[in-house]
Amino acid sequence: EKGNYRHFMQKEIFEQPTVVAQTLGSYLRQADNSVALPQLDFDISEIRRLTIVACGTSYYAGMVAKYWFEHFARVPVDIDVASEFRYREPVLEDGGLALFISQSGETADTLAALRHCKANGQVIGVVVNVPTSTMAREADLLLPTHAGPEIGVASTKAFTCQLAVLAALAAHMAVKKGLMNREEEQSVVSHLLETPACLNAALDHDDDIASMAHLIAPARDVLYLGRGQDYPLAMEGALKLKEISYIHAEGYASGEMKHGPIALIDDEVPVVVIAPSGPLFEKTVSNMEEVRARGGKIVLISDAEGLEEAGEGCMATIEMPKVHPLIAPLVYAIPVQLLAYHVAVVKGTDVDQPRNLAKSVTVE
Ligand code: M6R
Repeated sequence: EKGNYRHFMQKEIFEQPTVVAQTLGSYLRQADNSVALPQLDFDISEIRRLTIVACGTSYYAGMVAKYWFEHFARVPVDIDVASEFRYREPVLEDGGLALFISQSGETADTLAALRHCKANGQVIGVVVNVPTSTMAREADLLLPTHAGPEIGVASTKAFTCQLAVLAALAAHMAVKKGLMNREEEQSVVSHLLETPACLNAALDHDDDIASMAHLIAPARDVLYLGRGQDYPLAMEGALKLKEISYIHAEGYASGEMKHGPIALIDDEVPVVVIAPSGPLFEKTVSNMEEVRARGGKIVLISDAEGLEEAGEGCMATIEMPKVHPLIAPLVYAIPVQLLAYHVAVVKGTDVDQPRNLAKSVTVE
């Protein structure tokens, strides 16, 4: 079943151009570059508040989507991990949409949070990869990802497919609220449709990433930094690395470095910086300088423009294609996944079945 791949995780990473295209294909109409969501039996333009709840990697997809819902649809978004959400007292007013994101559709805490929101009058939307799952059955609005079965415990293709669905939903909401005109919709959709080609371009760097894995494998701690919508990716990168390579890793917002974690930096701590060129790039470069001044070893993931400006003096660089900011989180997920994968391979851990973990967490 693994074909020519050594692990399911590797196979699933490489499936992403195909499954993201499949997923986008069911939410976007290529003929006229429009968003095409299933018929909703509520008026999405009337939604006053969005609550997003998920766990692990699915939670990070939700964190990226928060930026999109705020930016495009101008809707207030509350997001939390399910295990926290269900034990606080979230204020759920009528007229809210609660979105649950889950590969399996069975995660116990996420399901409990869903039932809590349902009992409190929220419209229930779910983004799940298993269309026959419990969450799918209990939803008012089912938005499936078409990633196909994900076997590796480390979630990869489900994540990028979740992002694809959430981007389409944010654009749809913006259109319905009159915040995105036809021309803007066409532009957003055409950028989304460029994603599979950009994912392929990112996958072309597999060999480069494999050959730098030995630089990370001996580390005891690794920091990941990102800003804006790349901040959740920093956390996703850290989760992926710790989960399969057992190296301690933390994801931080670049600007938070000087509020504590910079104390950890010395020449033993690799710092992976996720920073496409753009308006926030300069700020991240100055955070990189702070790391470098303390002997930190930087792995910079950026595009040609970013590497040209800040690549010098890095321990390693990974070049991504220049992409529209909207799709950057999908494209930059690839090097982050590949880096974790190759480091785990160097360390010889059980990539598909890491210790202490289960694919579907059906207990609290
Ligand atoms: O099936 P779900 O998406 O609800 O699972 C959520 C998390 O358990 C999951 O993403 C977990 O964090 C992964 N092992 C991460 O790679």
